[in-house]
Amino acid sequence: MEIQLTVRLGAVMSKMNCARGATLRNVLIENGQSPNRGIHCSGLGICGTCLVEVVEEGGRQRKRACQIRCFRNLEIILLS
Ligand code: FES
Repeated sequence: MEIQLTVRLGAVMSKMNCARGATLRNVLIENGQSPNRGIHCSGLGICGTCLVEVVEEGGRQRKRACQIRCFRNLEIILLS
């Protein structure tokens, strides 16, 4: 089953599909929207440069995109 991501960067919103369980950072990179800013750890989870905001009921939470597995539809805000 495919998962749908809604990704916002400023006023621009895009939709992308991914396989269930895919890593958010990888999906964003494959779609030309790397969340990383500057030098990074390539997804090892130690640099913190891949922070995104995940929109959830009750608000937004900042999380590392390389540590998020997509098991449900997500709304993501990229930090500029
Ligand atoms: S890429 Fe370094 S923490 Fe995610």
